[in-house]
Order: sequence, then structure tokens, then C-alpha cells
Amino acid sequence: MAVADHSTVSRNKTSEYIFSPASTAYYPLLQSSQQNPRWINSTLSKPLFIITPYAESQIQAAVVCARNHGLQVRARSGGHDYEGLSYLCTTRFVLVDLLNLRSVALDPEKGTAWVQSGATLGELYYSIAKNTARTYGFPAGLCPSVGIGGHFSGGGFGTMLRKYGLAADNVVDARFVNVYGRILDREAMGEDVFWAIRGGGGASFGIILSWKIKLVRVPSLVTVFTIDKRLEEGATGLVLRWQNVAHKLPEDLFIRVIIQDDGGESLASQKTVKTSFNSLFLGRKDELIPIMNKRFPELGLQAKECTEMSWIESVLYFAGYPRGQPLEVLLSRTTLYKTYFKAKSDFVKEPIPETGLQGIWERILEEKLVFMIMDPYGGKMDEISESELPFPHRKGNLYNIQYLVKWEENGFKATKKHVNWIRMLYQYMEPFVSNSPRGAYLNYRDLDLGINRRGRGGGNYSEAQAWGRKYFKGNLERLAMAKAMVDPENFFRNEQSIPVLPTGRKNVI
Ligand code: FDA
Repeated sequence: MAVADHSTVSRNKTSEYIFSPASTAYYPLLQSSQQNPRWINSTLSKPLFIITPYAESQIQAAVVCARNHGLQVRARSGGHDYEGLSYLCTTRFVLVDLLNLRSVALDPEKGTAWVQSGATLGELYYSIAKNTARTYGFPAGLCPSVGIGGHFSGGGFGTMLRKYGLAADNVVDARFVNVYGRILDREAMGEDVFWAIRGGGGASFGIILSWKIKLVRVPSLVTVFTIDKRLEEGATGLVLRWQNVAHKLPEDLFIRVIIQDDGGESLASQKTVKTSFNSLFLGRKDELIPIMNKRFPELGLQAKECTEMSWIESVLYFAGYPRGQPLEVLLSRTTLYKTYFKAKSDFVKEPIPETGLQGIWERILEEKLVFMIMDPYGGKMDEISESELPFPHRKGNLYNIQYLVKWEENGFKATKKHVNWIRMLYQYMEPFVSNSPRGAYLNYRDLDLGINRRGRGGGNYSEAQAWGRKYFKGNLERLAMAKAMVDPENFFRNEQSIPVLPTGRKNVI
């Protein structure tokens, strides 16, 4: 393989796709899609080479070549991994960045599409809207710069999860490169491996090239609203009520709650907690208002607080773009939210009582730039069994919580302070959330839950219970058996990769 040495990041010359640290393009490329600058100064190894393939055969060659040279491989699609696992490693490795493999091939008649892993959610949504006269959408995450490769393989959900489930629930085929450099589709990989890569994290099994997805019908007009209430405006009572109603609402209606610290920057403004009831309704506002009056009148929603728009415009709305932006903003691979952060997740099965909420408010008031994002479940999520896919958090969950703390200062001291704060909040939450195991969402990756210590990813089945049960509950065993079928020597591994559980089968896929 020839190694390119460029003065700029050139993506036009298809022959130049391997970059060593000697290349001036290497560092810009390495940092191009990192979402959490926390990892830029990491002391962990940097890749020996960054490979940006233009053809699938170049990925096959990269895997075979890395294996022959005893190097690890990290695949990166959108670079949003919360712990930087797509571009950091404790040992010598190559980074395969799929940014040049991002086509979306739609079949509007059949309502399906093949999308390459290197595409972003924004590119997928844009392509669907442009090519299907806005009649279709897809139920995946809210942030347009998230990569398809990591997102689909970890589950993936957004504002349509109550109606259509996870992104992974809507995948019908996939193509991936295995440890021997072979390309396998659904039929060739078999149902166990196809099951595993839809929620078990692709990084444990191979490099996923592309996914075939089922698009979903969206109405020509949807309705959005966001209502902010601070503590002094009755926020506590509304959150108490929301916990009882949000998961039982019609599945066309998704109301999430974003809780954050607010004010206190000046002497005049007192610090408080702000709650935002942020909603998508798959229908018109004159249908929405009667539902809200009947099911959640406490919020007092009025027609003037609702905006009707196309589904694709609602994608921009939830991504935080002001109204009137061209759809082309979805094609930007740069995130709107790049900042130092640490996140954690939980699933809630019983409403948190008022005293519990008061304790949360007290803790939020001690910090800055903190968020708790609560997504309601119910609807379609109740209809899918825990073992249908590796993502097990289905019926019985009222909502999931993502805790997030952001900060602006670089350095060890700042990191320690903010990470300690979120760990303290997580500890406080223990009595209020799912237990035995306490659930967590793989796509909100959290290395505090435990790591594969043996060989930093050597992968030991009993060691993996600590984090694996939280992400996958009883599905961990089947994941480890699928791993044995497709990667028995554990070539594809990271700090939280699925360990091998030998099945006794001789035939490796
Ligand atoms: P990245 O490229 O970092 O990959 C993540 C993991 O997948 C790594 O282990 C990587 O090796 C592996 N991987 C990536 N591509 C692969 C491939 N082709 N084959 C095999 N393995 C591959 N989630 C959600 O459900 N709903 C949401 O709304 C959001 N919103 C959101 C906003 C922001 C700002 C961030 C930073 C994150 C989210 N997420 C989210 C979480 C997101 O779904 C999660 O971080 C995904 O894993 C990101 O996928 P990327 O491809 O971008 O990450």
C-alpha cells in the first residue's frame, strides 16, 4: 500500500487514501470528526495510519494488512463516540475512517434505501426528503452529524421512536467486512451476526460497509412545540405529571423533557432549573390540541405555541437550527455541539417522586452547563421483545435519561471536577432508576461502567458482565456467541467490545 503525504486534506484523488503522521493532512483528518475535544490531548496511541477508503476493496485490504502486521483496527463513521473509542487505542493501530463512503441509494417505490456507514444522519435525512417528495422519513437520532455506522450498530433513536422504534429496528440487510477481509451480506453472515450488529455495536464484529433500511411514511405536515417552565413556574409538578402520561400518549406524539441549569450569570438573574417540554407530533395542530387538553392539560398547550412544518423541517428544528435555514445545512459534517463533555444514561421504570426531583434540582444548581434529557418510551417500544435485538430496554421503561455535563476549560483539573459531579449525580439517581442490572445505552457509551482490562480489550466473558449486562441485559450471552462465530480470535476489539464465548461450532463465518 502506498502512503500519501499531502499538504492539504485532498479527497479528490482516489489513489491517496492512506495518511501517516508525517503527512500534514494527518492531524486535521484525525480531529476532523472528533466531537469531544477532551480526547484530542489524550496520551493514548495515535493511529499509525489513517485510511480513508473510496472503495470497499480498500477496507478489505486494510483489514487483512493490519491483521498480518499485528495491528488493531478502529473504524470511524461519524466520530461521535462519547469515549473516543473510534479513534483512540492503547496499542498500535490503524484508523479506517469511512468519510468517503457515504452514498445513499433510495428506492422510493419500495420505500427502502441502502446507506453507506460513512454517511451522517443529516445526509440520510436530506437524501430521503429530496428524493421521495417528503413522503418518507427515518426514525433515528436528532443530531445530523452523527455517523450511520456507529449509530445504527448501537441502536439509534430519535423523535419517532414511539411510533417506529429504533433505527436498528428498521434495518433489513447489511454488508460488512469480516476479520478475513470477506464481504458478507445478511444471508452470508447469518441471522445471529445480523442480529448482533443491530445494537451490539459494530466494532466488535467487523467493519460495516452499508445498511439496507426500511423508510417510514411521514405526513406532509407535522407539528412541533417547545414549552419552557422554570422551577418558579411549576416545573416540578409538570415533570411529575409528564412521568405518568408521556409513555401512554398516542404513538404519534413524542414529548421529551430537557432539564438544565439556567441563569445566575449576573447578580440580577437568580440561578434556577429550566425544564423544556420539546415535542414532535406526526399530524396537524388541530388534532394535537384536543389530545393535549385531554391527556396533559397541565401543560396548557395553546395553538399559538405550535408550529406546523414538513417532517424534514422538524429535523432542522430538533437539531437547533433557526427556522428558514436551507436543508443543505444537514449536509455539514460539523456538529453544532462540539465541546468537552461527559455523559451517562439510565432507564426509569417507576416515576421519580417529588422528593427525588428536589434532590436532582439541588445537585443541578451546584453545576453549570448540565443537562438531563428524558425521552419517553411506550408505543412501539412496548411491542418489541427484549431479545428481538441486542438493545433490551423495551416494555416497562417509562423513559430513558441522558445526563450530560459540558465544560469549556481544558485540562485535568477541570475534567476531574466536572466528571466527579456527574458521577455524584449518577450515584444519587440509583434508587430511582432500573436495577439488577441498572440499564445503560451503548450509544451513550460510558467507560465508568467497566472495561475489558485483560489486554485492554482482550475480552473476558465474566469481566464483561459489569458493563455488558447494563447495555444488553440477557442478550450479552448471544452477543458473545455471535462474536465467536464471526471473530473467534477477537481481532476486532476495544475497551467495551463483546468477548468471545465459544460455541463449540467449527465453522467460522
Ligand atoms: P463513531 O464513528 O465514533 O463510532 C462509534 C462506535 O462505533 C465506535 O466503537 C466505532 O469503532 C464503531 N463504528 C463506527 N462505524 C463503524 C462501522 N462502519 N463498522 C463497525 N463499527 C463502527 N444517539 C441516539 O440514539 N440519538 C440521538 O439523538 C443522539 N444524538 C447525539 C448527539 C451528539 C452531539 C452526539 C455526540 C451523540 C449523539 N448520539 C445520539 C449518540 C450516537 O448515536 C453515538 O455516539 C454513535 O455511536 C455515534 O456514531 P458515529 O458513527 O458518529 O461514531
